[in-house]
Amino acid sequence: MRAGDMLYEGKAKQLFLTEDPGVVRVKYKDTATAFNGEKRAVLEGKGEMNNRISTFFFRYLNEHGIPNHFIDAISPLEQLVRKVDIIPLEVVVRNIAAGTLSKRTGLPEGTELRHPVVELYYKDDALGDPLINEDHVSVLQLATEEQLKEMREMALKVNDLLKQLMEQEKILLVDFKLEFGVDAEGKLLLADEISPDTCRFWDAKTGEKLDKDRFRRDLGQVVEAYREIWTRLGGKKDV
Ligand code: TYD
Repeated sequence: MRAGDMLYEGKAKQLFLTEDPGVVRVKYKDTATAFNGEKRAVLEGKGEMNNRISTFFFRYLNEHGIPNHFIDAISPLEQLVRKVDIIPLEVVVRNIAAGTLSKRTGLPEGTELRHPVVELYYKDDALGDPLINEDHVSVLQLATEEQLKEMREMALKVNDLLKQLMEQEKILLVDFKLEFGVDAEGKLLLADEISPDTCRFWDAKTGEKLDKDRFRRDLGQVVEAYREIWTRLGGKKDV
């Protein structure tokens, strides 16, 4: 394979090789999917918003000591990131009950949790990304005990940092999903994206949903809500 070749295409992003074997180019797409790919749409402008918002969060986390894969944004849709092997786990952190936590526990949506809840999901489309625990991770050899400990600590730190940041913009960080990877030197890095596709954001005053639930639940104005997040984060600056 050569520089420019597509390495991988996911639901919301494409990955391309670069001249540097340690660096890949990520291109955000306008496609939206939900319910394990059953629901699909093209939402014009979503890719650009997610690239800009994700860039903003990764830069912010870099400045606050969270090692991550982000290198630079190079166009409205593209970033350069460090090449990592993704650990096949979705690490979800929750502050307020919503989505599958409400379904699983009966806690009404909007219930403030006494403390953050960290959950692990096994990234496997065929199995439907099931919720699993640390013993399952060990048996399946998805990550080492040390990596699990580091991921949990980093996820809780990211939660503190993003919660505080969003509170300043009058937005509640309800929950979010992180993915981690390991670089060529074996170092664990936060990877993938952090955007309204992977977080729940509620307006602190009105409770309005400003995230992918607008798509999942057919509430309309999806890209407009993502743009609102971007604007509150200080938007107009070029990436
Ligand atoms: P969750 O309520 O478990 O599921 P759903 O997204 O199906 O309602 O999601 C918790 C948070 O994690 C939410 O902000 C969405 C994010 N998430 C993803 O981005 N991708 C995923 O595959 C999962 C399971 C969650």
